[in-house]
Amino acid sequence: MGLVTTKEMFKNAYEGGYAIGAFNVNNMEIIQGITEAAMEEKAPLILQVSAGARKYAKHIYLMKLIEAALADAGAQGVDLPIAVHLDHGDDFEICKSCIDGGFTSVMIDGSKHSFEDNIALTKQVVEYAHSKGVTVEGELGKLAGIEDDVNVSEADAQFTNPAEVEEFVTKTGVDSLAIAIGTSHGAFKFKPGQKPQLRFDILENIQKRLPGFPIVLHGASSVIPEFVDMVNQYGGKMPDAIGIPEEMLRQAAKMAVCKINIDSDLRLAMTATVRKHFADNPGHFDPRQYLTPARAAIKDMVKRKLVNVLGCSGKI
Ligand code: G3H
Ligand code: 13P
Ligand code: ZN
Repeated sequence: MGLVTTKEMFKNAYEGGYAIGAFNVNNMEIIQGITEAAMEEKAPLILQVSAGARKYAKHIYLMKLIEAALADAGAQGVDLPIAVHLDHGDDFEICKSCIDGGFTSVMIDGSKHSFEDNIALTKQVVEYAHSKGVTVEGELGKLAGIEDDVNVSEADAQFTNPAEVEEFVTKTGVDSLAIAIGTSHGAFKFKPGQKPQLRFDILENIQKRLPGFPIVLHGASSVIPEFVDMVNQYGGKMPDAIGIPEEMLRQAAKMAVCKINIDSDLRLAMTATVRKHFADNPGHFDPRQYLTPARAAIKDMVKRKLVNVLGCSGKI
């Protein structure tokens, strides 16, 4: 199977009460770790690429690595459905460049604009993307946290207004919608002592207004304490890193949420593992020595997500 769009994946996920994992990719080890986990779990997959990832690794390298992963899966007899998705496209140009460069899905994140300007920009991307058979994710509401170089403060964050979703979806023609219900980007989602909470009432309201329509959650890492402790134990400094409990995300995946974005948990697993490796093996300097366990840590983390959060094992 070649690359696929998110259309069929989301339809099956909605009907089946599970979600597809959208994992951020930046290099070969991350792509291999994620795809090996999905292959073993027989899970459909979204590999997403941010503007920062394109700048770091170059579009062509990421595309070719993903093509290699598909071919590798095929050679092992697994027909792995993979969608390659632009994460947080900021303007029409980057979306066009990714569509022209072979991505099968793009996000246009117009959430920093007014409602009307967000609609106009999203509609422009949808018209181009659909003419090329590519699916589009839009966003309504603002998440706190850091995306590339943009830091959205907690004061500027806003939950999605359910009264706006029908108009947004109808006027733009988007295929899925990212909403803000209390998740946020990065490893510091709540303050110490604060009880992690998601606004399930907003999600339910949106689900009622848009029956059958796929909803997306960004900022959905769980920032697993075991890995935060490992980072801190081996020379790192991440005091008070807190994420969204896995069972809350699992609940959302059973509802209208069809795509769950995970990046920070992969970063944390990789970094904790590399830190431990150097503490245990101070003489090592061959990158393969520390990238081998780092890649295995990515694979283990993705398997954990497929089982504990997404519920999409065995769905291909
Ligand atoms: O939402 C942002 C993702 O975690 C990607 O992060 O922009 O630093 O690549 P990045
Ligand atoms: P996390 O920082 O919670 O992993 O969120 C990633 C994300 O939303 C990418 O778009
Ligand atoms: Zn995001």
